[in-house]
Amino acid sequence: MASILLVGPGAIGATLAAWLCQDDRHRVVVAARTPFHSIEATTPSGVIRARPQVITDPAQAQPVDWILVCTKTYDSEAAASWFPRASGPATRLAVIQNGVEHVQRFAKRFDPVRIVPVMIDLPAERLSPGRTIQRGPAHLVVPAGRNGQDFLALFAHANFDARQTEDFTTAVWRKLCLNCAGAPCAVLLEPLGISRHDGVAELMRALVRECIAVGRAEGATLADGIADEIVDGARRAPPDTGNSLLADRRAGRPMEYDARNGVIARLGRKHGISAPMNALMAALLEAAQQVGEEV
Ligand SMILES: NC(=O)c1ccc[n+]([C@@H]2O[C@H](COP(=O)([O-])OP(=O)(O)OC[C@H]3O[C@@H](n4cnc5c(N)ncnc54)[C@H](OP(=O)(O)O)[C@@H]3O)[C@@H](O)[C@H]2O)c1
Repeated sequence: MASILLVGPGAIGATLAAWLCQDDRHRVVVAARTPFHSIEATTPSGVIRARPQVITDPAQAQPVDWILVCTKTYDSEAAASWFPRASGPATRLAVIQNGVEHVQRFAKRFDPVRIVPVMIDLPAERLSPGRTIQRGPAHLVVPAGRNGQDFLALFAHANFDARQTEDFTTAVWRKLCLNCAGAPCAVLLEPLGISRHDGVAELMRALVRECIAVGRAEGATLADGIADEIVDGARRAPPDTGNSLLADRRAGRPMEYDARNGVIARLGRKHGISAPMNALMAALLEAAQQVGEEV
């Protein structure tokens, strides 16, 4: 039995909360920005309904065994406002977000020894507060060790492909290779079909090659062939396939351009590796976001 505070019940968070609530040994509280009364998650295994306690003020939080952060990366600072009331000396923090900086993002606000970075592949969308749809299977990867093992045990009853790895660095950089290649869609406001344009395909390859170079300098094992694999996969995908950067830009929401592209240029500088294409994508999307906010 575990007490859990899940922060950020969006597409990922509400789906995970719905699964957690199916194990009645867990005590699940949801920390939301926008309140709702119940969760209905449509998953490949059927519709899951749950009624966890939903709180909207960090002052309402109580110490728990686990805090699960499922906000977008740009809301990490706000997510951390839940920590002081929810943490005790043994509380662990699972960071379930994209990118490669899961631990660094929270290291100033939580003891890094008790942070579990989680790589998640779970294609989900939020239809409205508390209502989600999961369009494919869920894969979770955590670093091997006690913390990762205990985190995965929270979902032992769920229909997830969940595993520990001795090489988490490679797992997150491999995913970043895929995610960084999605930026041209958001810049051009076009779904993945735009990758059939040769110039766009070449840009995507360049983004991934930069990611490979910086990822290797960070310790990841990444084959050269990943760039072609990702671009070929994009060109074969249904042309109307979107990604979350594109969806966020179209909806006028903030975008995770720093976690998906800016980070490659930032970490590249640390190693003397230039990543101009990723820097350019991040700069264009930052500008688009700022212009959007001012309109
Ligand atoms: N969706 C996917 O298919 C998918 C797949 C793999 C990885 N990821 C990654 O998973 C992470 C979460 O993505 P998502 O798609 O689930 O995002 P999302 O649907 O935008 O959900 C984020 C949730 O966080 C809430 N939130 C923001 N600040 C908060 C705060 N201070 N306290 C409590 N809640 C707060 C938001 O509240 P509001 O309701 O007020 O907006 C929203 O419910 C991202 O890093 C994303 O890249 C997503």
